[in-house]
Amino acid sequence: MSIISDDNDFINISDEKQKTVVKAEICDCDKNFENCIRPKSFDTYIGQSALKDTLKITIEAAKKREQPLDHLLFYGPPGLGKTTLAGVIAQEMGVDIKITSAPALERPRDIIGILMSLQGGEILFIDEIHRLNKVAEEILYPAMEDFYLDMTTGKSQTVKTLRVPLPKFTLIGATTKAGELSGPLRDRFGIIHRLEFYTEKELSQVIKRTAGILNIEIDEKGALAIARRSRGTPRIANRLVKRVSDFALVKYNGKITEPVADESLDILKIDEFGLDTTDRNLLKLIIEKYDGGPVGIETIAAAIGEDVRTIEDVCEPFLLQVGLLQRTPRGRKVSPATYRHLGYKTTNSNQQSLF
Ligand code: ADE
Repeated sequence: MSIISDDNDFINISDEKQKTVVKAEICDCDKNFENCIRPKSFDTYIGQSALKDTLKITIEAAKKREQPLDHLLFYGPPGLGKTTLAGVIAQEMGVDIKITSAPALERPRDIIGILMSLQGGEILFIDEIHRLNKVAEEILYPAMEDFYLDMTTGKSQTVKTLRVPLPKFTLIGATTKAGELSGPLRDRFGIIHRLEFYTEKELSQVIKRTAGILNIEIDEKGALAIARRSRGTPRIANRLVKRVSDFALVKYNGKITEPVADESLDILKIDEFGLDTTDRNLLKLIIEKYDGGPVGIETIAAAIGEDVRTIEDVCEPFLLQVGLLQRTPRGRKVSPATYRHLGYKTTNSNQQSLF
């Protein structure tokens, strides 16, 4: 793949684009809550234990060989810690990490600029890598495989091809949609791992750790009560701990206990499965207007006023996981459990047959 650069300024990333490349650093909790509570090492990273065990071996082997890690691809629902894990890997390898996301790599110069700014051994993390455009993808192929860029400068008759060597680096890609990655890109990752939803016990550990960092008083049952409604997702658990702590501070004596957590989450309209108003509206729509489904995702999105991507990426993974929603070739449908959870009698023909 060649890149035509007629103004020869492909190395400069515009100021606006540079903002999209974040160097991992210690940060101020008030300004960036999520970064502040991110675990920085395997010792403090809770959950994903099978994956952690394999990664520890991979890292130790790479260090013994004095080679950078193979390129890694993490996939799974949002909020499970793909970016966090990339940061942990960088820390454990003792290298810097540059973080960006595919939508920020719109023009060839964006990806070239980042690749050329890498130091030997560094990690480049690209979030939402399934959204990388074709040109950027093809620039990445030789960079990932043989660590060089093929560049063409000038116009028509005066075209010159330049092979620019790159330092050896590790690409960590993250995606919620592994199926949307092209075959050639997927094949260039040496290690591919799926991140799993967290158990309630793991989430309650995450919650207690976060509460400790933020100086929030919480007991065991309070942490478990929040964990139960966190949809298996640490990002949600961390968000809820802050919200519940607001209630605890204003309405109670500041400490999060089980009744405080339950009452606060009821007020926030997060039910005992962790479903919020959008999830319930989506499921109720399928039941009330489409007799339990199947119904197309575009129809659902238009009816509840959400975009398709939000439904697919944010709402659906958990609803599918707990069996409250099913995906069929003819669209989405609910299950008998959905009727029960939302307090409906399963009187329609569509669902009765499932009992
Ligand atoms: N915060 C977010 N994800 C976490 C994890 N896996 N372990 C500890 N704290 C977290």
